[in-house]
Amino acid sequence: MAKKVLSGIRASGRLHLGNYLGAVKGMLELQGSSEYETFYMVADAHSITTPYNASLLKEDTRNVVIDYLAAGLDPEKSVVFVQSMVSEHFEMAFYLSTMISVARMQHLPTFKEKVKQYPDNVTMALLNYPVLMAADILLYKADSVPVGVDQEPHLEIARQIARNMNSKYGTNFPEPQIFSTPGKYIPSLTGEGKMSKSVEGSYILLVDDFETIKKKLALAPTDAGSGERVPESGSIYNLLQLVELFQGVEKRKAYEDLYTSSGIKYQELKTELAGAIFDILKPIQEKRREIEAKPEYVNLVIKSGAEKAKKVAGETLREVKEKMGFLLI
Ligand code: ADP
Ligand code: TRP
Repeated sequence: MAKKVLSGIRASGRLHLGNYLGAVKGMLELQGSSEYETFYMVADAHSITTPYNASLLKEDTRNVVIDYLAAGLDPEKSVVFVQSMVSEHFEMAFYLSTMISVARMQHLPTFKEKVKQYPDNVTMALLNYPVLMAADILLYKADSVPVGVDQEPHLEIARQIARNMNSKYGTNFPEPQIFSTPGKYIPSLTGEGKMSKSVEGSYILLVDDFETIKKKLALAPTDAGSGERVPESGSIYNLLQLVELFQGVEKRKAYEDLYTSSGIKYQELKTELAGAIFDILKPIQEKRREIEAKPEYVNLVIKSGAEKAKKVAGETLREVKEKMGFLLI
């Protein structure tokens, strides 16, 4: 039987290189294999667990669908859908919430970070975020979840819930594992932490043009360009990581040699890197423009994706209700 894959990205702003390399590339890789049945959603319900603008949610959700299609997700090969259109996710989340303690959820590093970031918005929805994510994954009995490494704590919760369900109610949920790509952790352009849409100056968007990419890279902090040892963390290390991902490991090595000899000229490095990044983004941007011009097609993808997802989710939900003792007549 084909292995199942599920992944999602929240609908909060435009996709950036971290999302693309850490998550979408993995989705594409598994979509191409006949061994896998792939379900890719826009996690619009997860977007409302932190403060959001209701008048923009629709557009943000649609934009992620279009970004997905432009990046190469193919509705002929994958079920591409919007989470909130498959109400089974919410029902499942409630049943699964009986399988995990409040204390376990409060101790998650991802929860603690959000509490720090939004101290006035520590809601039940935020605490429940990983349970809803477990529902997303378990409804499709997914074995594999292409996401960046920052999602590992959430995957651990999903595995724990799967184990608890299996041992208490005799279900057969696989324990989902992360599917990682070489870009599983894309550093921030600021030199600190990961590239993230919530940190201004940290990211390059999939829709950025060459000049914008160059400008953003120009702001990334640098040093004198040479020294005894190549830094093993911080902004120079991060730039070299990007060089390796977009221009290859040989190019990185060449820069490392320069660092300990005649020195790196960062302006040249950054301009070349901007070119290499834009080479990857250009075809995605062209495809995006084509898709944007066909709103009816996008509607059709969203509608038929929801129907297909609902069928699979409905079956699993029925099984769970049955095993948990609900009266189904
Ligand atoms: P953000 O942190 O920008 O809000 P999300 O949390 O919406 O991004 O992440 C969506 C997907 O992209 C997840 O699979 C996440 O692991 C991945 N991702 C986000 N940022 C990065 C990054 N800097 N490097 C690798 N993957 C990332
Ligand atoms: N938490 C993920 C993120 O921040 C989004 C997400 C929601 C997800 N449900 C999921 C990812 C299920 C993988 C599987 O990006």
